[in-house]
Amino acid sequence: MYVCLCHGVSDKKIKRLALEEGITDIRGIKKCTALGSQCGKCVKMAKEILQETGVIQYQKAS
Ligand code: FES
Repeated sequence: MYVCLCHGVSDKKIKRLALEEGITDIRGIKKCTALGSQCGKCVKMAKEILQETGVIQYQKAS
């Protein structure tokens, strides 16, 4: 399934980057794939996929 339609990034690609490359935050995914750099609608879903994969690093706002 495509998560980012603007750049053709799939959920599989995000999971692979997380599990095989050790990219555990959304910033890293953005750097590798350009995900979220156009309309930005995909960022929320990409975060959910990282959460599902169990690797997301939470950043505190304060
Ligand atoms: S869907 Fe990802 S930037 Fe538009």
